[in-house]
Amino acid sequence: MNKRIAVICGDGIGQEVIPQAVRVLDAVGVRFGHVFTYEYVTAGGASIDLYGTPLTEENLNRVLEADAVLLGALGGDKWDHCPERPEKALLLLRKSLGVYANLRPAVLYPTLADISPLRSEITERGVDIMVVRELTGGLYYGQRATTADGAYDTMSYSVREINRILRVGFESAMLRRRRLTVVDKANILDTSKLWRRLASEMEREYPAVSVDYLYVDNASMQLVLHPDRFDVIVTENTFGDILSDETGAVVGSLGMIPSASLGDGAGLYEPVHGSAPDIAGKNIANPIAAILSAAMMLEYSFGLKEEAAAIRAAVEESIRRGVVTRDIARDACSATTREVGDYITRFVEVY
Ligand code: NAI
Ligand code: MG
Repeated sequence: MNKRIAVICGDGIGQEVIPQAVRVLDAVGVRFGHVFTYEYVTAGGASIDLYGTPLTEENLNRVLEADAVLLGALGGDKWDHCPERPEKALLLLRKSLGVYANLRPAVLYPTLADISPLRSEITERGVDIMVVRELTGGLYYGQRATTADGAYDTMSYSVREINRILRVGFESAMLRRRRLTVVDKANILDTSKLWRRLASEMEREYPAVSVDYLYVDNASMQLVLHPDRFDVIVTENTFGDILSDETGAVVGSLGMIPSASLGDGAGLYEPVHGSAPDIAGKNIANPIAAILSAAMMLEYSFGLKEEAAAIRAAVEESIRRGVVTRDIARDACSATTREVGDYITRFVEVY
């Protein structure tokens, strides 16, 4: 297989974790006989420094020509007062790529159970949740205004927008443990009522998937009481934003959570974390979220399941052997970003 990947390291620790993910992709190429070519693209703060804008049109076009996009993180205090903030590049990329489905898997590795803020009686049953969040509609994109005596935001969803994200939810469940939880606030919101009706219609197409419906307030409670009851959660933009951060907390470190943003064209893969200016340049950032994002790219964009599994196995082994950065290290002994990358790369090549 021959694929072109646009690589945007971005700012801060993006410059440290993405090169490790690229090394792991190269190891996959060697072991499984694929050729990945990388198109390095500057965006975010780095682009503001170079070109005075977060993403040039020429660079955007280079990204749009790729088969998939791997991105580190954009932003940092240095650019907070620029007229155009680095994060604008991210919104532009999402919109231009048309990626409406954001998949955020959260897995609690048994050896890391003590990193979770939850008690062991809860975590010992395991946590392996995929949040499927709608990414380009709802409250964040609705009409809003500040008026003389208040302010308003609007949440609106079309049937098409809901159906296409529900489809991703059902398909994700089919690839996993075949349980889907539809999260809404159908006791109050019209958008949620529509969401629930469309989901129950789609249920008939997926008899193998067992579906349940939870109100978002109850879902947020169940996530900390019984995280093991969840397989795939599908929900609208705002609820998904909030619940996926909660699942992130449940598994311990932001440095572990990858994401895939999918649409009809090329997918965008990025760790959930930001540029972490507080630890940037120190070779201590956890590269696992970036590396697992590359694994998601192989699986979702290129259909390379065995290859993705090889990466996940290597990540698990590095965790089991304690070759981890200090955010998830259980004792004073921790590895550097590069050492974790070395271990995972070598494991993928050899096993
Ligand atoms: P952040 O995710 O960068 O950092 C939050 C905390 O988690 C920090 O203490 C950081 O050290 C730690 N952390 C994050 N990733 C880590 C990793 N891989 N290994 C170890 N520790 C890690 O969020 P923050 O501080 O709110 O934002 C920093 C900058 O990043 C801001 O400019 C923000 O706008 C930007 N940002 C960009 C995102 C993106 O490009 N998708 C997403 C979130 C924030
Ligand atoms: Mg968020």
